[in-house]
Amino acid sequence: MASDHAGFDLKELLKRELQAAGHDILDLGTTGSATSVDYPDFGTALAKVIRDGGAGRGVLVCGTGIGISIAANREPAVRAAVVHDVTSARLARQHNDANVIALGARLVGTEVAKDCVRIFLETPFEGGRHGPRVAKLSAAR
Ligand code: RB5
Repeated sequence: MASDHAGFDLKELLKRELQAAGHDILDLGTTGSATSVDYPDFGTALAKVIRDGGAGRGVLVCGTGIGISIAANREPAVRAAVVHDVTSARLARQHNDANVIALGARLVGTEVAKDCVRIFLETPFEGGRHGPRVAKLSAAR
């Protein structure tokens, strides 16, 4: 997990939920909402962990989910999806094999965010016709 200052509170809430559900969490920061930080630093840090196999899935939070997902998606191993609802969370897994979910703390309510992360973690990739398409995402770099 990683966030900037705008996403800190939601990251912490989601972290507690995930830990309570038994997930092993690697928290890459940021460590508070009071100090302004740069979202690319945190999206990039999480992307490197995914690339190096230190985590199978990632959860990113910034104000919109947009900036931090753009940063993470510069790493070819990352497929980060900005998600605002559970249908997007489900389809990001089924069709895109997304390995990172990005949430906007200023846009999404906490209950929706919790549901999105839960669905993101429990939904498998469908494979089939989606396999070659997902493969092209990395091949295009
Ligand atoms: C920070 O103010 C904000 O710009 C950032 O959290 C994010 O929304 C950028 O995409």
